[in-house]
Amino acid sequence: MNVNYWQDIAQKIYEKTSATALRNADKIPYSTINGRFDDQSDNISWWTNGFWAGQLWQLYGAVGGDDLRKIAEKIEEKLDRVFLQSWGMDHDSGFRWLMTAGANYRLTGSESSKNRLILAANDLAGRFNLAGKFIRAWNDSGDGSKAGWAIIDCMMNLPLLYFVSDILHDPRFSQIAIAHADTAIKAFVKHDGSVCHIVEFDPVSGIRLKSHGGQGFAHGSSWTRGQAWGLYGFTLSYIHSKKREYLETAQKIADRFIERIPENGFIPVDFEQPKEPWYEDSTAAAIAACGLIELSKISGEKYRETAEMLLKKLIEGRCRFDLECDNILEKCTAAYHDSWHEGAIIYGDYFLAEAVLKLCGRETFLW
Ligand code: GLY
Repeated sequence: MNVNYWQDIAQKIYEKTSATALRNADKIPYSTINGRFDDQSDNISWWTNGFWAGQLWQLYGAVGGDDLRKIAEKIEEKLDRVFLQSWGMDHDSGFRWLMTAGANYRLTGSESSKNRLILAANDLAGRFNLAGKFIRAWNDSGDGSKAGWAIIDCMMNLPLLYFVSDILHDPRFSQIAIAHADTAIKAFVKHDGSVCHIVEFDPVSGIRLKSHGGQGFAHGSSWTRGQAWGLYGFTLSYIHSKKREYLETAQKIADRFIERIPENGFIPVDFEQPKEPWYEDSTAAAIAACGLIELSKISGEKYRETAEMLLKKLIEGRCRFDLECDNILEKCTAAYHDSWHEGAIIYGDYFLAEAVLKLCGRETFLW
């Protein structure tokens, strides 16, 4: 596929996003209701609340548009409330603030955005468990029941730590990121290149106790978004640290992911889900495509070919560029056993936009 194809899709994403941004100017969307974005402004600590702003910043960086910038800045300001809610500050600080304050700081040099990045990174670093050398994922009601839980998704939050180490010329943050990534290789990645979703450590001794089933089909199965987080996350840790093990791990996860892509090119929620009910998750395809494009820059064309194939499938079969609905990507699924499947999810749109902009050479690197 030549670059004109991707430029054309980037233009479609820009036009649709510009129109939907204006008609949803005060919202922080997660999904849609009857085709219109919902609003998570009253659920302010929700982990996905940075992605819409991230999409707006990506398009602002590629094309421009002060309206997009202003809406993204408003979301960043709204997120300040999260800093005052200890129960809402979990390990997803990377997702929340790299897409908002991180993008703003990179594109405009905003000092208040830099301040937010440092606050968020300090909180994330404070979740590090010294005995087990892992970053705690979620909070609990204060009973410590999740004090030893870490999840593969956290690999995507580590870039906040690498970034703030660079900003402050202080290695403490990246030391914690590297310690977590080292633990994740041993605790999450299986011999065949698939990854666990949730691992529980003894929070006192740090010993790995067991894994838990999460958003995939079953305990021990292969939740595709988790595979994509691992693939992209280890690639990012390699980009920041240049530790060879991270590159090898990313390649191992990528090779296993590629091996299991169904013939039709659409990604299921879980590579081991039964034939019925069969649910898709387009977000996993878009995230994996981003990871594969980055991996291809380091280690080869085959990863880029797969990324392009996955994206082309989404563009031709799972995207809406018309204005009848606010979302772009369709058939996104949060978890196999949820009652809701195959709808719009904002990070699907974000990663689709990021991947397409990567292929045009117009991305702002936010990780
Ligand atoms: N990080 C949560 C998810 O991927 O659903």
